[in-house]
Amino acid sequence: MSDAHAGDVNRRDFLYLATGAAGVVAVGGIAWPLVSQLAPNAREVAGGAPIEIDISAIEAGQVITVTWRGSKYFVYHLTEEEKAAAEKQEQSHFRDFVAADSRISGPEGGEAVWSIYAANCTHLGCIPTEVKGGGDTWNCPCHGSKFDVTGRVTKGPAPVNLPQPPMVFASAEKLIIGTDKVGA
Ligand code: FES
Repeated sequence: MSDAHAGDVNRRDFLYLATGAAGVVAVGGIAWPLVSQLAPNAREVAGGAPIEIDISAIEAGQVITVTWRGSKYFVYHLTEEEKAAAEKQEQSHFRDFVAADSRISGPEGGEAVWSIYAANCTHLGCIPTEVKGGGDTWNCPCHGSKFDVTGRVTKGPAPVNLPQPPMVFASAEKLIIGTDKVGA
């Protein structure tokens, strides 16, 4: 990992956002701001309906966690440096290689700087934690699997990449998880 990327990791805020989320709240004793998470409405909870996420407040280098169908997903806004580093990383670095571009998307007419993937390790389901100070972006605390900024596994025992949900950008500010069609 480049020094530039390490710097991004160090300054990266960790945010939690809920469906249709709105505000940012300061939490004493925590070194990063927290975006308030609103509970999904009853229909969404009951039916697993798509969820709408306001991504307008998520700055480059920040990641939020959302819940869809009872599972958590990371919504990661990559910096240009993170995206470039992911794209040039050698294929041999990965256990389940796919091109970084295939896991990075964005709104129509906007920048492709978003990577959205499950927050549960593909080994036994633990939630990876963000790595501070270099190396891969995510480390699974249970058995040490590691994942890059796009959720690609670089070290086992996790056998495959963090899966990506169906998703679509309805606008530059709105991401929908749970469908790949706007208005579906
Ligand atoms: S659950 Fe993540 S490495 Fe085992």
